[in-house]
Amino acid sequence: MSVVPVITIDGPTASGKGTITSQVAQALGWHVLDSGALYRLTALSALQKELSLDDEAAIAHAAENLDVSFSAEGAMLESQFVGDAIRAEEVGNAASKIAAYPQVREALLQRQRNFRTLPGLVADGRDMGTVVFTDAPLKIFLVADVRIRAERRYKQLKKKGISASLTSLLEDLQARDLRDTTRASAPLVAAADAVTIDSSHLSIEDTVAKVLSLWQRS
Ligand code: DC
Repeated sequence: MSVVPVITIDGPTASGKGTITSQVAQALGWHVLDSGALYRLTALSALQKELSLDDEAAIAHAAENLDVSFSAEGAMLESQFVGDAIRAEEVGNAASKIAAYPQVREALLQRQRNFRTLPGLVADGRDMGTVVFTDAPLKIFLVADVRIRAERRYKQLKKKGISASLTSLLEDLQARDLRDTTRASAPLVAAADAVTIDSSHLSIEDTVAKVLSLWQRS
């Protein structure tokens, strides 16, 4: 078992995991793993290379050889800033598709574990507690009603000046939830020892405080 502490925060798309993860990490002075970004970067790389999204082996190869780095300014792919590009709905949908491939998940496994360095890590994803960091001393499963998640995503995009339709965002989230929860390889599911937090009616501050108090008590 690693001596480096890790808090895993798993849950569906747009449940607020990213925000909660970075604020918990900031409060503790720990590192962050945004594992979804790795799947999004793999998807973007596959789209840029015009690989077929049906070609599991080719995409796993791209995942294995992904030239990525993370800086304060965001994610970089082959020395290009792609922080905004990987957030596009098209890339998110492609990421959800390729994340179903066991070979792609295997290719990204060690890369994710390498983020576990002192003084600690807060890891955001779908399978952080069930597959990647099974020995984590605190596992959170963060959920929120799908309509509330669609509204949050809508507001986020609007704020960035990106036009979106609430109905299509809701449909996209429902489709992505279904794919993430029903895939054979590492489906989105709470670890048996995870604490579920429903953030539908909680503020960001309340949710962060809840995670920190669980950590202090663990
Ligand atoms: O959290 P996100 O929306 O950035 O994730 C993008 C996609 O990657 C999502 O559809 C599910 C997938 N994913 C995954 O399968 N496992 C993870 N640990 C993180 C993300």
